[in-house]
Amino acid sequence: MQIISTVSAMQALRRNLTSSIGLVPTMGYLHEGHLSLVRRARCENDIVIVSIFVNPSQFGPNEDLGTYPRDLEHDLALLREAQVDYVFAPSNDELYPPRYQTWVELSELPQQLEGARRPGHFRGVTTIVSKLFHLTRPTRAYFGQKDAQQALILRRMVADLNFALQMIICPTVREAHGLAMSSRNNYLSAEERQGAGVLYQALQAAQSAYDAGERCAERLREIMRDVLAQEPLARPEYISAADLETLTEIPGLITGPALLSLAVPFAGKARLIDNIWLGTSPDTLPAL
Ligand code: PAF
Repeated sequence: MQIISTVSAMQALRRNLTSSIGLVPTMGYLHEGHLSLVRRARCENDIVIVSIFVNPSQFGPNEDLGTYPRDLEHDLALLREAQVDYVFAPSNDELYPPRYQTWVELSELPQQLEGARRPGHFRGVTTIVSKLFHLTRPTRAYFGQKDAQQALILRRMVADLNFALQMIICPTVREAHGLAMSSRNNYLSAEERQGAGVLYQALQAAQSAYDAGERCAERLREIMRDVLAQEPLARPEYISAADLETLTEIPGLITGPALLSLAVPFAGKARLIDNIWLGTSPDTLPAL
């Protein structure tokens, strides 16, 4: 496994690669969720590149950039074991040199859900992912369903900017009690992580109602609200049933693919998000 830390080395390497390339962009502090993406990339491509970069431009001024967990040595050991070919781990100055001023921004999708609460977040994500796409020119790029809005925004960006790559959205990997894996789960104690399984319980309760024929979006939000209310450490910020294409709240009946999603600050320590998709799945999403 080769570690690349500069833009020029990445560009030089890429010029000499001719076979299929799977890219897994990450911010490090890897867990089973990331490794599931890496394994799928390993299976579907000749060459696997994992990027590790805690991207400052996607953190708001009051967010956790300074305390975001990092452990490069451990990450590299996991990636070596997963038979990754190249790790791209550049410094901040490599990707955002002095006088940097170019941004990639979508006009509509980032105004909803996470984007509405985290101004500028998706501008940072779409900019850094564009840069990673240019530098690595992957055949396929792998993202987790857990960050559903991110995945759907990037899918739109790939179509709009004609990136010649396939976006692969992989299922959320969960801890034993249902909590979606995230590097930020590290902010919670073992007991709190167990309690945080309530997010998935809420989503599952809504899914069961939908499977039983419930189509009223507000009723599904109510079901999720009631389950979350049973856990005093959970302080929901939003409980959403949105159209999966536009990400706007569904006012009445669900008639097409829907995204049920939650953002829940938990125990005053971690802002957890989770989602499930109704009436479609990442594998059956139509091409844009
Ligand atoms: O999902 C993440 O870890 C990040 O948002 C990403 C896609 C690596 C961009 O920094």
